[in-house]
Amino acid sequence: MSTEAVRQPAELKFADELARLAQDDQEQGGAKPPGWKLTARAVRSFVIGDEPLGVERKFYGDDPLVDRAIVTLMGRQGLMLVGEPGTAKSMLSELLAAAISGNSNLTIQGTAATTEDHVRYSWNYALLLAEGPTERSIVPSPIYQAMVSGRIARFEEITRAAPEIQDTMVSLLSEKHLMVPEFGADARIAARSGFNVIATANLRDRGVNEMSAALKRRFNFETVHPLADPQFEVELVARQLEAELGPDLRSVKFDREVLDLLVTVFRDLRTGTTKEGTVIKRPEAVMSTAEAVGVAVSAALEARYLGDAVVTPGRIADRMLGVALKDNQEDAARLRFYADTVIRERARHDRRWKAFLTATRTWR
Ligand SMILES: Nc1ncnc2c1ncn2[C@@H]1O[C@H](COP(=O)(O)OP(=O)(O)OP(=O)(O)O)[C@@H](O)[C@H]1O
Ligand SMILES: [Mg+2]
Repeated sequence: MSTEAVRQPAELKFADELARLAQDDQEQGGAKPPGWKLTARAVRSFVIGDEPLGVERKFYGDDPLVDRAIVTLMGRQGLMLVGEPGTAKSMLSELLAAAISGNSNLTIQGTAATTEDHVRYSWNYALLLAEGPTERSIVPSPIYQAMVSGRIARFEEITRAAPEIQDTMVSLLSEKHLMVPEFGADARIAARSGFNVIATANLRDRGVNEMSAALKRRFNFETVHPLADPQFEVELVARQLEAELGPDLRSVKFDREVLDLLVTVFRDLRTGTTKEGTVIKRPEAVMSTAEAVGVAVSAALEARYLGDAVVTPGRIADRMLGVALKDNQEDAARLRFYADTVIRERARHDRRWKAFLTATRTWR
């Protein structure tokens, strides 16, 4: 049995690419920002791809945003990525941290239970009692570690942490040092160059608005939008499918047309306007590209292991149930309306949509 980790951090998963980019940096002799592992140009290539170097594109759709993010991280302000769920904010923050610092693991997950200790440091109490406050007895937070090593720290879902915890970041980001009074009245840990913070926040969650003005000023906000180009989205889902299933995918028949259909349904429901221009009610369920990938993967797995190895439109409709109908009666009504009008119309002259329509009978 394979003992491979289910998911590797980006710096391991793409170690080859990072090595090639570092090599290329050396040959080109470009200047790196202080504390960075790569030049800004190479960081950009890592995220949006560089064919001659054999670096694949990972983030689609908004290259200027990637540039602005990199520029922000070279400066004094932190980077705040905000947007709808599933727009690849976390992915982008991981990629940037991996390319800039070679380490994307210095991460705090914001929750209602996040405390100041999680942001700053805590103590190993056994050691604290034995030898007092020392380098050994302190338990540094990911941010502390990022400061002393000159790396990027990530603060995921920052708005889920209480405002006063978020505000711990204010002095960290403006003074770039952390006071440790236990080490002495004036003791401070100074950030080395290369340190910065990437935070992410989901617009569906309680408030970016509740963030204090002081903290907002310390961050440069970038909004990550859902993919605008349907062709990009189809390509992305196809790639993710390949990445997630690997060899399993080769034994499944998954036509491009079926993938197109899947992406079309998700886009219609996400935007509330169909590709024909009909306005429909959007379900409350998240219908992001990430969910589309999830449906594609589970339909392919079902076809491979429980079916006849063909991903049909009907299978897609079935797999959508768990994603789009999370026990929400109003959403069920919206989906039925969408099926009874938009899909029915398409089904009149397309057999794939017809097969899809037939399977939507389970949508209730
Ligand atoms: N523009 C995009 N480029 C590449 N992948 C994307 C893009 N948009 C969505 N994805 C897909 O979405 C997946 C999940 O994204 P991620 O978890 O980073 O989203 P998120 O914005 O952090 O969501 P949440 O707000 O729910 O935390 C990615 O792994 C990728 O498959
Ligand atoms: Mg996220």
